[in-house]
Amino acid sequence: MELVSIVDEQNNKYRFKRYKGYPFNVEAIGNVRDQLEKIAHFDVKPDDVIVSVFPKSGTHWLYNTVMMLRSGSLKYSGTPTFLEFQEFKLIEEKESPRTFGSHMRFRFLPEQMKLGRGKVVTVTRNPKDTVVSMYKMLQAMGDIGYQGSFEGFLKIFVTEECFMGNGSWFSWIKDMEEWKSPNCLSLSYKDFKQNTFENVVKLAKFLEVDHDEDFLRSVSDSIQFNKLKESHNLTTPPSDRWKDISEDGRLPIYRKGEVGEWKKVITVAQSEQFDKLFKEKVEEFGLKIKTSFE
Ligand code: A3P
Repeated sequence: MELVSIVDEQNNKYRFKRYKGYPFNVEAIGNVRDQLEKIAHFDVKPDDVIVSVFPKSGTHWLYNTVMMLRSGSLKYSGTPTFLEFQEFKLIEEKESPRTFGSHMRFRFLPEQMKLGRGKVVTVTRNPKDTVVSMYKMLQAMGDIGYQGSFEGFLKIFVTEECFMGNGSWFSWIKDMEEWKSPNCLSLSYKDFKQNTFENVVKLAKFLEVDHDEDFLRSVSDSIQFNKLKESHNLTTPPSDRWKDISEDGRLPIYRKGEVGEWKKVITVAQSEQFDKLFKEKVEEFGLKIKTSFE
């Protein structure tokens, strides 16, 4: 593993861990290699679930929905135990039924999951909203990898050196689309927001949990942005894992929760450039993802 520190011509600074050519967040555990090996050989239980999402695309939202559905309670569960950010011992010793989080590309998920053991759930968001959300979070947290302008960050985001998702958003989506087992359910952020109840029903079916309509409607209500935001601020206990890089040990997750917020930050010229690149990448990578994001 190599610690990479780059300062570009505009004096934007970014740092990440590079392992086998892939960028990892500086917060990823240790030398990255040991953790990746342990994750690859992780003894997956049939009822394990991984909420595997490109950062800033709704990981917490989906995780808390899964937790409510699996526990049968409307209690807020906070931030998941992330495979790449937690000591492996904590991951292994977690009590079943276990629900983990991951921002890593699908190629780094446990081998047994790739063979169909356990379940993976994910949510995909317009990358323009994702990059804005990511930049705002990095700003809110001080130095956890990037310090500089939004313009500089946008340039990194589309390259394979984007440390938040082990490469560009396009590569992350490519890995997801190439997942071969039928044990993965993929939701869309926009549809989840517009048709929350239908998505909760879909998720419950996929997770094989049996609840009556009243409970599913209560879950849909409890995972609305404002409710999760309030619970996060009021009921999430400060976490040791995040105490050095965030206020009170709580990650600053809930900002706007909107579709199309990018329009307030990304300029027309930047957006056009991004659309052009999007088209090129969809073709180059043979992506199935819809090319029109609002
Ligand atoms: P914004 O920064 O645009 O507000 P993650 O959990 O992957 O870090 O994603 C965080 C993003 O998901 C944030 O986006 C957050 O507000 C949004 N989010 C969280 N809960 C949401 C909800 N119930 N509805 C819509 N967006 C939500």
